[in-house]
Amino acid sequence: MAGPAQEKRVFDPVGEDELDRTLRPRTFGDFVGQARVVGNLRIHLDASRGRGEPPDHVLLTGLPGLGKTTLAHLLATESGSALRLTTGPALERPRDLVGILSNLQPGDILFVDEIHRIPAAVEEILYPAMEDFRVDLTIDQGPNARVLNMRLARFALVGATTREGLLSSPLRSRFGLLERLDPYPPGEIAEIVRRAASRLGVSLETEAVDRLASRARGIPRIGIRLLKRVRDLAQVRGAGRVDAALAEEALRMLGVDEAGLEELDRRILGTILRLGGGPVGLKTIAMAVGEEADTIESVYEPFLVREGYLQKSPRGRSATSLARRALRAARGVEPTLF
Ligand SMILES: Nc1ncnc2c1ncn2[C@@H]1O[C@H](COP(=O)(O)OP(=O)(O)OP(=O)(O)O)[C@@H](O)[C@H]1O
Ligand SMILES: [Mg+2]
Repeated sequence: MAGPAQEKRVFDPVGEDELDRTLRPRTFGDFVGQARVVGNLRIHLDASRGRGEPPDHVLLTGLPGLGKTTLAHLLATESGSALRLTTGPALERPRDLVGILSNLQPGDILFVDEIHRIPAAVEEILYPAMEDFRVDLTIDQGPNARVLNMRLARFALVGATTREGLLSSPLRSRFGLLERLDPYPPGEIAEIVRRAASRLGVSLETEAVDRLASRARGIPRIGIRLLKRVRDLAQVRGAGRVDAALAEEALRMLGVDEAGLEELDRRILGTILRLGGGPVGLKTIAMAVGEEADTIESVYEPFLVREGYLQKSPRGRSATSLARRALRAARGVEPTLF
């Protein structure tokens, strides 16, 4: 597994292993940062608990790895509810959703990840379910068609999406709380890395923590991934403590440059620069770098745009002079098998 596949393990924000779950904060108190969002959720939980009601439906949006799933778990834990999990793409047919809804107990929290990927026919089932805790299902077709009405237990829907723009407005408007997570400042990522390191039993010098945090793009999952790779390297080297030099070495081996750009970022920018700096269409870029357009758009581009390497316009993507400089500076930083 060389090249892109290797790279994916570092930055691909999709999928997680057992270790990730053990690192997940267990209480709001463990959850670092996002003070506004956490504050809003806590107030709502306290208030609804005071009224003896289940919480309202909550929509969590933000880039992959910012903590949406973690917050959904926390909402359930802190409200003492059971969490039922599903994803938009898993709900292929209306009856998939009806099956789940009809099994909910009063007060349950239903977490629908990637909620923007719910098929339209299934989404329509959600409207009355969210509003009136009721399902209207048409069974059979033509002259045999019947409408089945079913009452549901009063539940709370927690939806998560990395692509808020793809959510239909009828669905969006049925959520009582709409909370957007933004990338974390380096200090908060450092705190997250520090906590994860102590759970993993890795000893890191402050400077090493800061080096990792500054390359994590403001995303906890990336910070934790970097930490795990540094931990591997420290173990192989027999280093009891990770200092800045060891952290830098690991980052170099992972192909993460000074600017926090990784191999695929550089390939994206390099492609655009080779084509005269842009504008270049997303599909062309996707083809050239061998990654899905959707992944490039939702995972890689937000960082490149935020940091000023890339500009988006209706005609396509353009690379900035900052991108040119970063690529020049990064020459020599090539990923190796780690
Ligand atoms: N605020 C935080 N404090 C501590 N750890 C965090 C925080 N946010 C996220 N994490 C950690 O980062 C990892 C990714 O978080 P999570 O899975 O909740 O992200 P997500 O937003 O659901 O991502 P995706 O969109 O890919 O599903 C988890 O392992 C979690 O432990
Ligand atoms: Mg998630």
